[in-house]
Amino acid sequence: MTMKMKLKLKNVFMLYFLVSVCGLMYALMQLGQPCDCTLHSRQSSDLVHSRDRTISRLQGELKRLQARGNPEEPPKPALPTIYTVTPTYTRLVQKAELTRLSQTLLHVPSLHWVVVEDSPVKTSLVSELLKRSGLRYTHLCTQTPKDFKLQEGDPNWLKPRGVEQRNLALQWLRENRGPSDEGVVYFADDDNTYSLRLFEEMRFTKRVSVWPVGLVGGVRFERPLVERGQVTGFYTAWKPNRPFPMDMAGFAVSLPLLLANPAARFHLSAQRGNLESSLLQALVSIEELEPRASNCTKVLVWHTRTEKPKMKQEDALLLKGLGSDPSVEV
Ligand SMILES: *[C@@H]1O[C@H](CO)[C@@H](O)[C@H](O)[C@H]1NC(C)=O
Repeated sequence: MTMKMKLKLKNVFMLYFLVSVCGLMYALMQLGQPCDCTLHSRQSSDLVHSRDRTISRLQGELKRLQARGNPEEPPKPALPTIYTVTPTYTRLVQKAELTRLSQTLLHVPSLHWVVVEDSPVKTSLVSELLKRSGLRYTHLCTQTPKDFKLQEGDPNWLKPRGVEQRNLALQWLRENRGPSDEGVVYFADDDNTYSLRLFEEMRFTKRVSVWPVGLVGGVRFERPLVERGQVTGFYTAWKPNRPFPMDMAGFAVSLPLLLANPAARFHLSAQRGNLESSLLQALVSIEELEPRASNCTKVLVWHTRTEKPKMKQEDALLLKGLGSDPSVEV
């Protein structure tokens, strides 16, 4: 090796050494420098917060869904119970009507269904239906006195129906609920059609709340007339001079008001069309009524009637010796 080559190699090492030392020094200096990282940490803490919010929202949603999936779960204490009183009697369409109504009521939170049969005993049809319904319920029965019962062929308006049954429900409420129970009582026949919105309109009734009813009394709707938020009269074609010219489906009564007026009840002897008035007169004046459903401008319940099915062909089959199969549950 020549002297010249040795020198060159030495220079290359020297250079390499210097560059390395400079690089190391620079890196060490950078370590001690304050850096502008507040932006970074702010962004990441925002991220953590929004993730916390999402988690607590999802936890709430999960709790709600779990509560909804379990009908045994007690209702939230803040929501007053809606006691829905349904008088019912044995007929061809009974199971269909009760099935339809029960499945409407399943959508209503904090509801207690009081079903009262016009019968000397609780029938297995209604007992089984209630057991399977998934609703909170009370099953009662009482037979309408014979003198007051509709006879075959009587028009259905001849005598008031469901009177003793509704009164028995009132009696049950008075015996089983007390001053600390918040709630509202609604008389819901098994053949009407109910919007779910109706139940939220009535839930916070103070005394008696009212709203329109569709397809009733020979008109498209009947309704309380409202001025400046107060009931001043009624739009109705049929017997407008009744004290409270309203259908049973057009009002709800607060439970505390019913408990505070133990004598208030429906009267079996009430004149045609005056059954509602016989209860309401003992509870409120017209000025005290609370108009709901946007000042009584929305129809949320319809007085629908189910046609009586004609069973003409049953007899023809019977005559041919083809009686209906008793193993089929209708
Ligand atoms: C009902 O009418 C009153 C008085 O006119 C008004 O203040 C109120 O907002 C109305 N309520 C609804 C729900 O429309």
